[in-house]
Amino acid sequence: MARKIAAGNWKMNGGSAALSELTALAEATAGATAEIIICPPATLLSRASDATKDTPIAIGGQDCHTASAGAHTGDISTEMLTDAGAMSVILGHSERRTDHGETDALVCAKAETALSANLTAIVCIGETLEEREAGQTLAVAGRQLAASVPASATGATCVVAYEPVWAIGTGKVPTLEQIAEVHDFLRAELTTRFGAEIAEGISLLYGGSVKSSNAADIFAVSNVDGALVGGASLKAADFAPIVTALSNS
Ligand code: PGA
Repeated sequence: MARKIAAGNWKMNGGSAALSELTALAEATAGATAEIIICPPATLLSRASDATKDTPIAIGGQDCHTASAGAHTGDISTEMLTDAGAMSVILGHSERRTDHGETDALVCAKAETALSANLTAIVCIGETLEEREAGQTLAVAGRQLAASVPASATGATCVVAYEPVWAIGTGKVPTLEQIAEVHDFLRAELTTRFGAEIAEGISLLYGGSVKSSNAADIFAVSNVDGALVGGASLKAADFAPIVTALSNS
């Protein structure tokens, strides 16, 4: 069975003052059974790891380079993420694909690097509004899945987040039927490629405008094993009910 994961992506938000949200989140989610991952900006990784040391909250990065070190100004290696206490890393988020021109091939190479460093790779895929309106949602999701998830992926090492680009930060959410259609398709594609045992162990997260008010409905959808949450992960008061809804699903 796939792990239930509530992952928070803080994106380029938060300074020292945001660390208190982690303590508050740990308190508000005591006893939760879902896995909790918070991916703060790189500047907070070490302190976030320290702040969550004796809690079930795991810390993750938001990107990594394929090289372990060298002349790559502004980048971060998997060794640096691990050294800062991260256990996972988000890869191929649509904002990286758009802002930094990241391709499926690069995302796949980053994911391979993450797996070699024993970091869980949270690989993001999802269609734009134009692609959905053109009826290409499954074709895009299938192509990105095949080309972004490395051949060495297993349930223990790799998580897939389906995030329709038009739903990220917009308050627009696909219907539950639309989410089910994509997640069922992704599970089937993973099964064809990896076989049922590995495919069923790979968590499929939904991402895009998840809030406490829609989380329980989304978690009841078939083949949804959790969520990747942006805006609603910044405050413990918003994220804790999402973690609770997933634990109860
Ligand atoms: P959102 O972002 O929850 O703010 O829509 C989701 C994401 O980008 O992972």
